[in-house]
Amino acid sequence: MSVDSTPIHLLSSAEFQCLVQRARDQVLAHRLFQPAVACILGSGLGGLADSVAHPVAIDYAEIPGFTKTHAVGHAGRLITGYIGGVPVVLMQGRSHRYEGHSHAQLQFPVHVMHALGAKTLIATNAAGGLNTRFEVSDLMVIDSHIDFLWRRSMWANRPTSDDQPAARMGDQALRGRNPFSHHLIRRSKAIARSQGAVLHQGCYLGTLGPTYETRSEYRSFRWMGADAVGMSTVPEVLAARDLGMDVLAFSVITNVASTDVPSLTTHDEVVHSGNQAGPRLERIIELLLSDMSGQPD
Ligand code: HPA
Repeated sequence: MSVDSTPIHLLSSAEFQCLVQRARDQVLAHRLFQPAVACILGSGLGGLADSVAHPVAIDYAEIPGFTKTHAVGHAGRLITGYIGGVPVVLMQGRSHRYEGHSHAQLQFPVHVMHALGAKTLIATNAAGGLNTRFEVSDLMVIDSHIDFLWRRSMWANRPTSDDQPAARMGDQALRGRNPFSHHLIRRSKAIARSQGAVLHQGCYLGTLGPTYETRSEYRSFRWMGADAVGMSTVPEVLAARDLGMDVLAFSVITNVASTDVPSLTTHDEVVHSGNQAGPRLERIIELLLSDMSGQPD
């Protein structure tokens, strides 16, 4: 089997790194560019791409190792350009475990954006609100997560013979560390306050999906201490943390968990609420990036 037709989680470390370099070179062939910040835009939250100055977009289909995303509300393009004066690379749409992709596949684009030079990852997602104070269209900055996707690191998913056991196990010290940057959380909260926007802070629980939760599941996730639940983000932030990147992640609360009355959450509702709340979150991220570049907005 050639490297191109081998599923990413079955590649050796050397083959994986080689594919990362090929993907990086393909992006650089479109534009010689060194992003400082990488962003992953979740369901219905792709609007940040409209704020990119001097954008160059590349379809995922053109980049080795990237996968087409089938989820509604995910465009499937990598965009390079500038926001608030900061060179950024944006994933407009992501893939999910429920689409049949491995952890390593979801983490691959983070490795590529890191190889391009990005030192910070900002991820966004749509999530169901578990905290009883949350309302539809609220925003939450994630300060911790509960991993119900059951894989802590891509290395744990790589049963190839040439991986060193130490690498396969991952660095225990890194793996135990909370990925989310306190400094960036503080800055985001200050910016939200300056905008008069409510920004909750809390714990995100990531599931495999693809279904939304039953009332009992919502109840038990709340009992576990999660404030919001979704089907993404955890693999990407774990990869970023293992690569030593600063990580910031936001949830848009697209529906609130109904634990007492039967109610049905639909993907259309989630995308619609994401679109409603998206501009508020996009503004916070734009201001944060301006702040990072030291430029007045
Ligand atoms: N559960 C899981 N994922 C989600 C939800 C939810 O209620 N809303 C948006 N993504």
